Amino acid sequence: MTSASAPGKIILFGEHAVVYGQPALAVPVSEVHADVEVSTESGEGIWISAPDIDLYAELGTLPPDQPIAAAVRRTLPAVLKTGDLTHPTFRRLTIKVTSSIPRASGLGSGTAVSVAVVRALAAHFHYPISDEEVSSFAYEVDKVHHGTPSGIDNTVIAFARPLFFVRGAPPETFRVGRPLTILIGDTGKPAPTRDAVADVRRLWEADKEKWEGVFADVGEIGRHARKAMETGETARLGRLMDENHDLLRQMTVSSDELERLVAGARAAGAMGAKLSGGGRGGNMIALATRERAPRVSDALHAAGAKNVIITTIG
Ligand code: MEV
Repeated sequence: MTSASAPGKIILFGEHAVVYGQPALAVPVSEVHADVEVSTESGEGIWISAPDIDLYAELGTLPPDQPIAAAVRRTLPAVLKTGDLTHPTFRRLTIKVTSSIPRASGLGSGTAVSVAVVRALAAHFHYPISDEEVSSFAYEVDKVHHGTPSGIDNTVIAFARPLFFVRGAPPETFRVGRPLTILIGDTGKPAPTRDAVADVRRLWEADKEKWEGVFADVGEIGRHARKAMETGETARLGRLMDENHDLLRQMTVSSDELERLVAGARAAGAMGAKLSGGGRGGNMIALATRERAPRVSDALHAAGAKNVIITTIG
C-alpha cells in the first residue's frame, strides 16, 4: 500500500486581483488534509473509494467530470508512460480518498484531493514526480470545474509552502520571519467562486481603468504583505489585511455573514481581518497573537461562524 496526503490552503492577500495579473499570497493549512491510499487488494479493475461522498465505483463507470476520476485518468498514463488503462498493471487497483478539509469553503478541498491522488499514484508506481508536475496535473483537473482558475490553489497545495503567486510566472515560495497565528472562520455558506469571479469581470468590463487601479492597489498591498511576513512585522500585516478587505468589499464580493465575522474578530482584538477566496460566503481570516486567538475564536463563533480553524504559519 502507498499513501500520500495534501494540505488545505488559504489565500491571505490578492484574491480576484490575481485573475488580472496582480500578485496574491497563499499558505498551506496543514491542520486539515486530504489523504489517499493506493492498494492492490481489490477485484479486477481500478476502483475509486471515497466514503465521505458515498462513492465506490470502477473508474470506467465514472463520468469525465468526476474530479477524482479526472485526477486518476490524468495521472496514470503519465506515471506508467502508457495511455492504455487496460494494461495488466492496472488490473487490480484501489484508490481510497478521505479528507478533513471542509468542502466548498475556499480551503482548496478539491485541489488537495487531486494533489494527493497524483502523489499517491506516482509513489505507487515509483515515478519521481516534481512539485511543478503535481501542480500542473492538479490544475488540469481544477479547470474541469472552475473554468480558467488563476492557478493559485494547485500551486500552493502542490508546493505546500507560503507562496507569492503571479499568474503565468514561476512560483515563488518564501519564508515567514516570525510564526503567525491565523484564524479561519467559516460562514457555513458555500462560496460561489465562479459567480463572484464573473461579477468582478462585469465590473471590470464596464470601467477597466477604475478597476485596474483597484487591482493594482491590491497588488501593492500583497507586495508589502510579503515583506511584512518575511520581516515579522505582524501589526503592519494586520493593517494590510484590513485594507485588502475594504477593496474586496468595493468589488462586491463580501456578504453580511462575512462582514459579521470580520467585525467580530476585530472587536475581539484581532490585528486584522478580511474575507478569503472567492467571497460571498466561504471563509474569512483573522490575524491574532497566539494569546488572543482563543478569544477571537469565541467571538467568531458568537458572530455566526460554523467552524473555526486556528493555523500557525512559519
Ligand atoms: C478563489 O480561490 C480565488 C480567486 O482569486 C479566483 C482564482 O484565483 O482563480 C477568486
